[in-house]
Amino acid sequence: MKINSLVSIDQCSKEDILRILDNARTFEENPDRKILEGKIAATLFFEPSTRTRLSFETAVNRLGGKVVGFSDASTTSSSKGETLKDTILVVSNYADLIIMRHHLEGAARYASEVTAVPVINAGDGANQHPSQTLLDLYSIRQTQKRLNDLTITMVGDLKYGRTVHSLIVGMSHFSPTFHFIAPDELRMPEEQKHFCNHHNIRYHEHTAFTEDIINQTDILYMTRVQRERFTDLEEYERVKNVYILRNSMLEGSRDNLRILHPLPRVNEIAYDVDDNPKAYYISQARNGLFVRQAIICEVLGINSQLLSSNS
Ligand code: CP
Repeated sequence: MKINSLVSIDQCSKEDILRILDNARTFEENPDRKILEGKIAATLFFEPSTRTRLSFETAVNRLGGKVVGFSDASTTSSSKGETLKDTILVVSNYADLIIMRHHLEGAARYASEVTAVPVINAGDGANQHPSQTLLDLYSIRQTQKRLNDLTITMVGDLKYGRTVHSLIVGMSHFSPTFHFIAPDELRMPEEQKHFCNHHNIRYHEHTAFTEDIINQTDILYMTRVQRERFTDLEEYERVKNVYILRNSMLEGSRDNLRILHPLPRVNEIAYDVDDNPKAYYISQARNGLFVRQAIICEVLGINSQLLSSNS
């Protein structure tokens, strides 16, 4: 099945996920192929981004396409009151593909419903970040040599963290066991726990970040406490530094343990972890380029035969 717009990871079957990861692997072998010549991608970033926007734009450039767009919505006519619908309809006159990040949950789905141009959700509020999930799955498969039967520990802001919400859905095809570590204020929402229960996914909730849990873990997925999601900044101040991973905490960890983080980090991973071979977050961000190339080809209907003949 081909995906026309990628707005949520739950629209991807297991086969879709594996196809996109396999195609990403071919892009890792050779990211420079002129298969988007004549195509224009619009990157509409209503919220800040470094990795997602720059890796999508690099992906298009390396494939021979061109990019238009904005990274600061205050410079666009949305600041004059233009609706999202009007912006999307107008940009659809110019571009073959829309890649958008927006603070409103459901914004990308709405955009995909008002235009025939493919839309890729680059993050919508606390809801979904499906391209991040696919690059997380790629990173997990690259480091563990499998996706099935892994123990994944998620740490930090599990309430507002769209990457952890999407990763639960993405991993649901692969029989994971989760540990959710968060302060009470930032616990995994009921919706995601209900999803786990419905799909017979094992999970355990904790408030303490202990070495005992780290030592049972294959993937340690650290997250930032996101200041921009809090309406009560006093609450943010109370929880912002609640968990900090330090190198000394990894001494008894499994050889195959890898530490992932969608980035940016603030304080949650101490800098002494960076030189540990188990730290994978910078390579994870690199994988975003190849996975986003595969996603772009997926939504534009560029099939895998063409990808392999261009390799
Ligand atoms: N992981 C991620 O979405 O990073 P950016 O906010 O920098 O795009």
